[in-house]
Amino acid sequence: MITPQPRQRNNSPKRTVSIIGTGSYVPEKILTNADLEKSVETTDEWITTRTGIKERRIAADGEFTSDMAAKAALAALENAGITAEEIDLIIVATVTPDMFFPSTACFVQTKIGAKNAACFDVSAACSGFLYGIEIAQQFITSHTHDTILVIGAEKLSSIVNWTDRNTCVLFGDGAGAAILRHRAHGHGVIATRMGSNGELADILKIPGGGCALPTTVENAAERHATIQMNGRETYKHAVTAMVESARQVLDDAGLTPADLACIIPHQANLRIIEAIADRLEVPMDRFMINLDRYGNTSAAAVAIALDEANRTSRMKVGDYVLLVVFGGGLTWASSVVQW
Ligand SMILES: CC(C)(COP(=O)(O)OP(=O)(O)OC[C@H]1O[C@@H](n2cnc3c(N)ncnc32)[C@H](O)[C@@H]1OP(=O)(O)O)[C@@H](O)C(=O)NCCC(=O)NCCS
Repeated sequence: MITPQPRQRNNSPKRTVSIIGTGSYVPEKILTNADLEKSVETTDEWITTRTGIKERRIAADGEFTSDMAAKAALAALENAGITAEEIDLIIVATVTPDMFFPSTACFVQTKIGAKNAACFDVSAACSGFLYGIEIAQQFITSHTHDTILVIGAEKLSSIVNWTDRNTCVLFGDGAGAAILRHRAHGHGVIATRMGSNGELADILKIPGGGCALPTTVENAAERHATIQMNGRETYKHAVTAMVESARQVLDDAGLTPADLACIIPHQANLRIIEAIADRLEVPMDRFMINLDRYGNTSAAAVAIALDEANRTSRMKVGDYVLLVVFGGGLTWASSVVQW
């Protein structure tokens, strides 16, 4: 039994919440568009022109979401220069947990040795990482927690219908992590926004495997427990929701798109990102894009892109950065961070 640590509560008002470290991990195995040409009726040309994706990573058979999440977390701890014992909350955003329970966050806790952390998972599909960032920000500003590890991690290859060319070309596996902590002085998360529309739940979902439609011996062949998507509808709502969410959070922050040094969007489709750039009137070179190499890794996508942007010095101290995501639910979220 672990003895709970006494927590010092401080009722002083708002405090700055900074991202003090980031990390990411992608599996070694690369699945190219050419590889997919051999298994479904598709072409590299179709996938590239419709999505911008060239290849994606696929986790090994025994490699679970928590394994990838733990590797991303360890990289983030190293980047932040802190130990796992300093983490007091772990939030994992995922739609591909190792199992329904325990939470994937609990598995990560053990794998990285974060014995002082409380742990839970967040289910907001591709928007989950930014939901986690907002939760972390609220917990830190309300003085209940000091150092929070937020992870987006997915083994989407385990829930893809590999015979459905409409979806199987889009997704990949990986994990990204960020550590948030109070900083007395300096920059941090300025504004966050979350939104949802459950009326449109049907356009992007995994209908089976839960209590509504359990997987049984009789229905297993029907692949209910795989991603089902109305691509066109999803595309349309993704553009509208991300543009609207970006405008709202920028307004909250007192900024305009022109103030942004870097935009880290959900990595689903290059055309969606181009449409957002067009509507916000921001040049494409301000957008961090890695979907050509990883495809859509759902909750991990923006987390991996954030880490890559950090490690390649896309952001300088003081820069304004916008993160914006969209996913099943429907859900969307955005954050403005001063780096
Ligand atoms: C999925 C997506 C790339 C499809 O692009 P699209 O331009 O809308 O294409 P459509 O769905 O209209 O399909 C056009 C044709 O291509 C075909 N097609 C679909 N997938 C294909 C593939 N992998 N290879 C070749 N042809 C394909 C369709 O069957 C359709 O053929 P038809 O006209 O004979 O019926 C696009 O809709 C999209 O990116 N949607 C959003 C996806 C997303 O972001 N999901 C996650 C959100 S978190």
